[in-house]
Amino acid sequence: MKLLPAILEIVKPLPVHSFFDGFSGSTRVSQMAAQEGYQVISNDISDWSRILATSYLKHDKPLGFYSELIEHLNAVSGYDGWFSEQYGGDDFGGSAVQSDGLKKPWQRHNTRKLDGIRDEIARLNLSEIDEAVALTSLMLALDSVDSTLGHFSSYLRKWSPRSYKKMILKTPHLFENNCDQTVLQDDIFNLGEVEADIAYFDPPYGSNNEKMPPSRVRYASYYHLWTSIIKNDKPELFGKVGRRVDTRDSVAISPFEEFRRGEDGRFLAVAAIDRLIAQTHARFILLSYSSGGRATISELSEVLTSYGNVKKVVKIDHKKNVMAEMKWSKKWLADNEQPFNEFLFLLER
Ligand SMILES: C[S@@+](CC[C@H](N)C(=O)[O-])C[C@H]1O[C@@H](n2cnc3c(N)ncnc32)[C@H](O)[C@@H]1O
Repeated sequence: MKLLPAILEIVKPLPVHSFFDGFSGSTRVSQMAAQEGYQVISNDISDWSRILATSYLKHDKPLGFYSELIEHLNAVSGYDGWFSEQYGGDDFGGSAVQSDGLKKPWQRHNTRKLDGIRDEIARLNLSEIDEAVALTSLMLALDSVDSTLGHFSSYLRKWSPRSYKKMILKTPHLFENNCDQTVLQDDIFNLGEVEADIAYFDPPYGSNNEKMPPSRVRYASYYHLWTSIIKNDKPELFGKVGRRVDTRDSVAISPFEEFRRGEDGRFLAVAAIDRLIAQTHARFILLSYSSGGRATISELSEVLTSYGNVKKVVKIDHKKNVMAEMKWSKKWLADNEQPFNEFLFLLER
C-alpha cells in the first residue's frame, strides 16, 4: 500500500474542503489533494519544496507556453561555470573518483548544461511562477542523470549508468487547478494560524541511530544542491560533497530531527510535535509517523490523546502492500513498534 491512497482513503469521507500540508517536501501530497479538488495550502521550510509547489499548484499559462520555454532551455549551450567547477566530474574508465580523490554527483557534460541553463533562466527574467516551472523541470532532469543514492550527502564511486545520459528537460506533469491554491515557505512555528479543515503533518523525524550526527539526517544537508540551484548564489562550500556552509552541523537543527531528550526526560522531537498540535486549530489533524524515527510511538500517543479523539490509526505495511486499521490501545502500540513501518494518525479536536 502506498502512502497517497492511504491518505486519500482517510480524508475522503471527512467533511473537509481545505487541506493544509504543513511539511510538503516533494509536494506529492499537496498535488494529490489539489487534484482531488481540495483547496490546498502547501508549506515547507525549504526552497526546493516552494519551487515544486509553485509550479504544480500555481501555474497559470497554457501548457504549450511551458513546453516552448523548456524547448528553448534544452537548446542552450553548456559551458564550464560554477556548477561544473564544483560538482562536475570526469569519467576515469567508469570510476567517478577525480584526481583530487573526490567524487561528484554528475558528469561534466551535464553540469555544463546545468551552468548554461541556470544562467539562461536568470537571464530570461521570468515571472515567479514560470521560473518555478523551469527550475522544477531542471531539477527533475538533473535527478534523472545523477550518480547518487537519491540525495547529496554522498556520491557514488562508480558512475551510475544514467549519469552517462545527456540531460534533457521535460515539461513537468502539470494538471489543471480549479482552486486558487496557496504556497507558503516558512518554519511551521512562524506561520501563525492557518485556516484549514484538515492539517496533514509529515515532519522530518530524525534517525533512531544516536551515533549519527544530526546534520546527516537533515533535509537541508541532504538537498543542499537543489538550494544552490534555486538560489543560484554560488555559496561558500565545505566538506567532501561540497555542502553549503549554511547547512553546517553547528547551525541549529530542526526540533523534529532532534534525537536528544530534554531536561524533562521527554524526546525533544515529541515536545516539538506537542507544540505543533497545540498551535493547530484545524478540526482534523492527520499525522504521519515512521517508526524508524526518534519519537517513540507511546510517547506520541500520549501527546495525541491529550488533544482530542484519535479516530484512526493506520499502519502501512510497505512489504505486504496492505493498509491495516488498528485499534487504538497502548498494548497494541507496544507490540507493534517495528522498525520502519509507517503510521497515520487521525485526530479530531
Ligand atoms: C518528511 S519530509 C515531508 C515529505 C512530504 N510529505 C512528501 O511526501 O514528500 C519533511 C519536510 O519538512 C520540512 N521541514 C523541516 N523542518 C521544518 C519546519 N520547521 N517547518 C516547515 N517545514 C520543515 C523539510 O524541508 C522536509 O521537506
